[in-house]
Amino acid sequence: MKQFTSVDDISDPLGLVEEALSLKKSPLAFNHLGKDLTLGLIFMNPSLRTRLSTQKAAQNLGMNVMVMNVGSDGWHLETEDGVIMNSDKAEHVKEAAAVIGQYCNIIGLRSFPGLTDREKDYKDVIINSFVKYSGVPVISLESAIYHPLQSLADLMTIEELKAKAGPKVVLSWAPHIKALPQSVPNSFAKWINTTSYEFVITHPEGYELAEDIAGDAQIEYDQNKAFEGADFIYTKNWSSYREYGKILSSDKSWMVDELKMSLTNNGKFMNCLPVRRNLIVSDGVLDGQHSVVIQQAGNREFSAQAVLKRMIEGL
Ligand code: CP
Repeated sequence: MKQFTSVDDISDPLGLVEEALSLKKSPLAFNHLGKDLTLGLIFMNPSLRTRLSTQKAAQNLGMNVMVMNVGSDGWHLETEDGVIMNSDKAEHVKEAAAVIGQYCNIIGLRSFPGLTDREKDYKDVIINSFVKYSGVPVISLESAIYHPLQSLADLMTIEELKAKAGPKVVLSWAPHIKALPQSVPNSFAKWINTTSYEFVITHPEGYELAEDIAGDAQIEYDQNKAFEGADFIYTKNWSSYREYGKILSSDKSWMVDELKMSLTNNGKFMNCLPVRRNLIVSDGVLDGQHSVVIQQAGNREFSAQAVLKRMIEGL
C-alpha cells in the first residue's frame, strides 16, 4: 500500500477491519516486521489519540518513530506553485516532504483545512503534496477532508459490537461553538457506504455533506425520527459544506441525551473524541453503559497497526 488517505485506497475495507481485529488479539505477533524502519509522524495540528495510538502501533511492529509538531516547531509551509515566497512561509512543501522522505520509510501527516476556500480545501493539497514529493508511503492522520484511521477504528468497533448483520447506523450532527471540518463525517460516510448496513445521516438543513460522499445514505432532517430503532448513534459536529465553513445552527436541542437515546434499539453511542460534554452529548449518555467511545479510541491503535503492517509488507 503506497498511500492511505481515504477508503478509496483500500480494495477490501472489511478485510482490513478483520486484519486490525486480529492484530488486536495478538498485538506483538509481527514485532520484528518493522525492525530498522522509521515512521515519521508530522503534525500541523493538535492531537491526543492519533499521535499516541499511531506511535504505539508502530512500536508494536518494532518500528522507530520520530514525531514533529510542524505547526509549532517547524517552518511554515508554502503549498502554492510558482509563488514569490516573500510571506511568513519559509519552506515549500516540495522540499519539506522530500527531505522528510529521506529520513523516514513511512510518513504520517495531520493537516486540517482552512475552512474558508472549499475548492482549495477539497483538493487536499498538503497530504497530496506529501504523497507526490516524499517518495515514501504516506498515511493520513486526518487531512482537510478525511480521517481514515478514525473510520477504520469506527468500523472495527461496529463489527465487534453489532448484534445483526445489517445494523442501523445513524450519523448525527450536534452543535458546537467552533466551525469544525467535515473530515470525520465525510470519512465515516465513505467507509459505512462500503458496507451493507442501513445508514442514515441526520442534521439541520444546510449541513448536507458533499453528494458524492454522502452517497446512498438516507438523509433525515428529523433527528428523533432518525434515532428510532438505531443500533449505533455516531455523533459529531461539522460546519456547513454548502455555505462552506459556516456555523448555520447552534440549536441545543440537537445534543444527544438520554431521552433521544431511548428512541434507539439500545443503541451504542459513538464519538471520535475529543467531545464537549453537555454540548454534543449529555454526561448521562457519555458516562452510561451504552457509550463505546473508549473502546473506539482503543481501536485506533490497531487500525493504525493494520495500515502500517500493509505498508511495510509493500515496501
Ligand atoms: N479522534 C482523534 O483523531 O483524536 P485526536 O484529534 O486527539 O488525535
